[in-house]
Amino acid sequence: MYSTQEQKKIYDLSKQMLASDNISPLDIGSLRDLLKYHEWKYYVQNQPVVSDYEYDQLYKKLEALEHSNPNLVTLDSPTQRVASDLNKDFEPVAHTVPMLSLGNSYNADDLNDFDKQVKKLCGLDLESNVEYCVEPKFDGGSIALVYEDDYLVRGATRGNGTKGEEMTPNAKAMPSIPLKAAFSKLGIFKAELRGEALIRKDIFDKVNQERVKAGKELFANPRNAATGGLRMKDPNETRKRGLEAFIFQLGYAVDSAGNDMLPTLGTHDKGIETLGDLGFKIPIVERKVVNSIKEAIAFCKEWEEKRDDYHYEIDGMVVKVNSLELQDRSGYTSHHPRWAIAYKFKAKQATTKMVNIEYQVGKVGSITPVAKLDPVHIAGVMVSSVSLHNEEFIVGKDLRIGDTVVVERAGDVIPYIVKSLEELRDGSEEPPKFPEFCPINTTDTQIPLIKIESEAAWRCPNCVCGAQDLQKIIFHVSKVAMDIDGFGKSNVERFHEAGWLQDISDVYNLDYDQIATLEGFGQRSADKLEASINKAKENPISKLLHSLTVHHLGKKASQLIAQEIEHVLDLRDWDEEKFTEIKDIGPVVAKNVIEYFSNSVNVRMLERMESYGVNLTQTEEDKPLQIAEDAPLAGKTILFTGSLQRMGRKQAQELAAKHGAKNISAVSKNLDILVAGEKAGSKLKKAEALGSVQVMSEDEFLELIGEE
Ligand code: IVH
Repeated sequence: MYSTQEQKKIYDLSKQMLASDNISPLDIGSLRDLLKYHEWKYYVQNQPVVSDYEYDQLYKKLEALEHSNPNLVTLDSPTQRVASDLNKDFEPVAHTVPMLSLGNSYNADDLNDFDKQVKKLCGLDLESNVEYCVEPKFDGGSIALVYEDDYLVRGATRGNGTKGEEMTPNAKAMPSIPLKAAFSKLGIFKAELRGEALIRKDIFDKVNQERVKAGKELFANPRNAATGGLRMKDPNETRKRGLEAFIFQLGYAVDSAGNDMLPTLGTHDKGIETLGDLGFKIPIVERKVVNSIKEAIAFCKEWEEKRDDYHYEIDGMVVKVNSLELQDRSGYTSHHPRWAIAYKFKAKQATTKMVNIEYQVGKVGSITPVAKLDPVHIAGVMVSSVSLHNEEFIVGKDLRIGDTVVVERAGDVIPYIVKSLEELRDGSEEPPKFPEFCPINTTDTQIPLIKIESEAAWRCPNCVCGAQDLQKIIFHVSKVAMDIDGFGKSNVERFHEAGWLQDISDVYNLDYDQIATLEGFGQRSADKLEASINKAKENPISKLLHSLTVHHLGKKASQLIAQEIEHVLDLRDWDEEKFTEIKDIGPVVAKNVIEYFSNSVNVRMLERMESYGVNLTQTEEDKPLQIAEDAPLAGKTILFTGSLQRMGRKQAQELAAKHGAKNISAVSKNLDILVAGEKAGSKLKKAEALGSVQVMSEDEFLELIGEE
């Protein structure tokens, strides 16, 4: 798509444009082109070369230029992706050629039958081998994109295969879809591409987390999030959803005289490769040309094993006859091509009975309903318990105790209740009653639950039963908080039950002789635990603050606050203004920390902790990094590559930062120093080729900073 030289030129030009306050309207074309390049690097190749911030700056410069020169706006300008008004209704549109479905296969026998049939249809010897192209069966929302004269003129959903719904503004809003692609270079005037809009699994998780927070109904799976994203009324929303489009078929291609250009591409694989060259996102490592059905079967099985590690949801593989000529000879049914077949992976849904709903109390008192299920096997995992998130989730799906429910486990995504099967109800099912009082509390005092306006969860505001304290202690000792080695959840639960842990201060006042007598413990384990706890007493106060489980006080905010105080209890005197003077600390965190420190129970607990030897005073680690101007790496950018022998990558980066360097992630003209460990590869080569980068070994680096 771009040669190395071109890429370097664009890169340099980007830096120039970033530095320039006054880009001439004459350069608007170059600016547009380099933004297109960065979109391609980021969304198609997953290898950005400029930071998000730099991209935004360039984008703003283009916007400003276009604003003052509206006549220079082009249809394929990156600003046009979400420039359109709110989408009207989604109008039905006929596809240029129908978007057919696929036949299904479930095992090697089915695929062997398919192979035999292809040979028969093509008049080939049954002993011969057919070349196939195998690729993922993406599980998202199908799309059809029409390009005319190189411009994207229409995006549509698959609909019923003959007619889909027009959603051009939303297609334009997806940065992995080129607004302009050089089909004309291939002699193609009009083309219709087929593909699948997908949402990466990690982005899907984030989208759902946001929805939990906002009290919105969750998406059952990435497919629903993707198909929903295609049908947003506002293309900005589509863009925010983070959809990506993989292209898997060139369905139609003609020249300006209407001649069919598909045969000129030779094979399906070549066609896809060509689309990749034109800037479309295509399957690469997950696509393979094989010489026989046997190899196709092996590739399908390989990906069935790997599906959970893949970033996108796939529900199978598609085996396609590679030669377009043989495809032609195989033909079509009214429903699917005879030259392709889907190999479906084993189901990831199962039905089972929801026998009960239990309510758990979290560390800040949020009440989470959890469905207890008759254990059921889903794609290799036994599932007996599934979170129902919050009250809205249960009400929205009308889940009742005793219902038969459909449970889905999609990839890495945690098991999820899709729906209940109303048709199987016999009247004995009970709508659950969400508790009004703390469900765990066994004391005489009933604690009414409260709901905070901006949150979806009910909370127990004033825990007297210890359930919340238990969760707080579990968090406090965990790896992300005080990181007490060997103090897992089960030990916390055990000590809590024994009455030794009422709140987090008790962690530092344990009787190790008593612990040594516990079954499964012994003196050695008790000593080890003691050593870990003693070590944690020395932790910087940023860690301690984070591990107090103040609602919304995360790791970053804890670090920012720790930089500003000498002693944790100084926070008793802080007001909202003082907190919000710190950049990135908002009023919510401020309010919660103030509330925490104005509660005498918490203050007394911290005083107890200090008396047990826990550090409450600012440490060197808590202080902001002070870098002297004459620090050996002051003002330099640095990158570590290859495997380091004397320290880990993270440690090396921290050391470099401590001595004034800025760690960056790519080799470019902006890089000053490359530290090359063993087996350094392409980054080293690139740095050497640039000539401007100082390349040094790990030892030389340590020598330079005086830490040999
Ligand atoms: S080929 C005429 N290839 O599966 C060829 N389809 O049941 C028909 N799909 O809705 C499609 N990944 O959106 C093809 N690699 C792939 C695919 C794929 C997903 C979807 C497609 C369609 C459905 C067909």
